[in-house]
Amino acid sequence: MDFTANLLIWFKENYRDLPWKNTTDPYKIWLSEIILQQTRVAQGYTYYLRFVEKYPTVDTLAAAPLDEVLKLWQGLGYYSRARNLHHTAQTVVQRYGGRFPASYGALRELKGIGDYTAAAIASFAFGEPVPALDGNGYRIFARVFGIDAPIDSSAGKKALREAAQSLIPCQCPADFNQSLMDFGSMVCVPKNPDCAGCPLQEGCYAYAHKKVNMLPVKARKADVRVRYFHYLIVRHGGKIYLHQRTDNDIWKGLYEFPLIETDAAVQPENITAQPAWQTLFSGTLVQIVRYSPLVKHQLTHQTLWARFYLIQLHDVPQHLCNQYLAVPLKDFDRYGIPRLIDAFLEKNGEKFAVV
Ligand code: ADE
Repeated sequence: MDFTANLLIWFKENYRDLPWKNTTDPYKIWLSEIILQQTRVAQGYTYYLRFVEKYPTVDTLAAAPLDEVLKLWQGLGYYSRARNLHHTAQTVVQRYGGRFPASYGALRELKGIGDYTAAAIASFAFGEPVPALDGNGYRIFARVFGIDAPIDSSAGKKALREAAQSLIPCQCPADFNQSLMDFGSMVCVPKNPDCAGCPLQEGCYAYAHKKVNMLPVKARKADVRVRYFHYLIVRHGGKIYLHQRTDNDIWKGLYEFPLIETDAAVQPENITAQPAWQTLFSGTLVQIVRYSPLVKHQLTHQTLWARFYLIQLHDVPQHLCNQYLAVPLKDFDRYGIPRLIDAFLEKNGEKFAVV
């Protein structure tokens, strides 16, 4: 079986026209790849168009305030990607005069650009024959060539990359890489792949050995951390109180309501006994108007359980005043907030006085 020839024939017959495919502009390719690492093509499409419209060049992105970039990224999650995006735009402007470096090696040095993204940009924009392997690509090579080293281990990645490197054609590395991404998301999908209609079936190790469901192999899953978030929605005098997350943690740079975090579940009746509650409201008359059911929010390595409390105050206590931003309600939608909060307010904003 000629792996490359069959793959490229399939690619021609199943071509999907997407806006980032008709360009060799490394800026647009980079932008699309970072967005597509975070979401599926259908959703990524609208984010990509919004970003390109607002920031048509790397210079415009570099010059934008970080808050604005985070706001445009809102809903995609993994906000460190958006921060790296902004940071790297500034590096490209400052170090390279606004032109992306034209080699895999130099691209790989930029923040937020890993093996996969560097290879995608180098091949799509500059025709360099380096394989761009994301989960899709790894899966295809693991199955077709029966490579059972874990795809999340460096040994596994190395074996898979070597297989791909030996097959990538120098005349059209971009088509090869793009076809791996498309083939992996349309035919050789993780569950119930379309083996019957697969042009690589004849030479596929996993198909021949009935191991399609066993490949690729993944090393043990990382432990999932469970966290409990108690959000206090405090509205007073037409203002709402917010806090910007700055620690090296999830959602750095985003805004949220005053938060009490605990390692274990807390019954709503007991929230006022938390030390953080005492610090926040000591000496003031506080009333909990209502609270929400628990909301579950799953991140890659963390499970968050959140509950929202609507709080009524008579006076604004000193601590709240000093440590939190008082934002006029009409300006609230200018602040980048985590998807968890955004989704909650979409359904419950009215009940929780955030409208
Ligand atoms: N996923 C990541 N990059 C992609 C691309 N260029 N086309 C389709 N899906 C992708």
